[in-house]
Amino acid sequence: MPAFARLVFIPGSTARMSSTEFAREALPTKLKRRVQLLLGPWGVFFEGFLQHPVMVGSIIPSSRFTIQKMLAPVDWDECRLFVEYGPGVGTFCRPVLDRLRRDGRLIVIDTNPLYINYLKATITDSRFTAVLGSAADVEAIVQAHGYEQADYVLSGLPFSTLPDRVGPEIAAATWRVLRPGGAFLVYQFSARARDFMARHFSRIDQGFELLNVLPCRLFWGWKEAA
Ligand SMILES: C[S@@+](CC[C@H](N)C(=O)[O-])C[C@H]1O[C@@H](n2cnc3c(N)ncnc32)[C@H](O)[C@@H]1O
Repeated sequence: MPAFARLVFIPGSTARMSSTEFAREALPTKLKRRVQLLLGPWGVFFEGFLQHPVMVGSIIPSSRFTIQKMLAPVDWDECRLFVEYGPGVGTFCRPVLDRLRRDGRLIVIDTNPLYINYLKATITDSRFTAVLGSAADVEAIVQAHGYEQADYVLSGLPFSTLPDRVGPEIAAATWRVLRPGGAFLVYQFSARARDFMARHFSRIDQGFELLNVLPCRLFWGWKEAA
């Protein structure tokens, strides 16, 4: 491959192509890819929204202000397994990996193959695992990767637009998978998730981030230490 060649992510697959292959593509496909390249991760995120608006629930990834505030209470020294639901294009993944210990692991779970393929193609950190599946199956997914429990679970799921039973199921499974002393971190445009969390988590800290599209509510549900 020539020195100037670069790899291009192909939405909907795990493959990348060289710039030579890219140059040989038909014009309409090439134009579509040019737009995707120009928009970067935001383009992939928006494409996922157009495919599944109810499941994605937002047209723009979270802001850096939301990320900083949401992750601030995490005790990184005590975090061996961090799980994220609904990573989208990985807005939180890199900040989590930046803070995670060297022997830690980040497992992300998303129902959209476009996002999972994008994450697999763009994040090469050996501590990172992207799983195509539902957050409702978190216990089986965590066990399949050799862990009994998670230290922290972060959710970017749009609870207010998901089918009615999904939120309560996910909150219950999350409580079971967390170690005592661990926490469920949730950011949401509405307070709906708090109702599901309150059935399991006796202490829920709350916050708000204005500098996000849209401004969002933040919740930290703490599982009582043993
Ligand atoms: C609002 S987006 C979150 C985007 C990203 N975390 C951010 O902060 O920019 C919601 C994500 O949840 C995913 N999702 C929806 N239902 C899910 C489920 N049951 N399990 C896992 N992921 C799900 C969607 O595919 C989408 O990637």
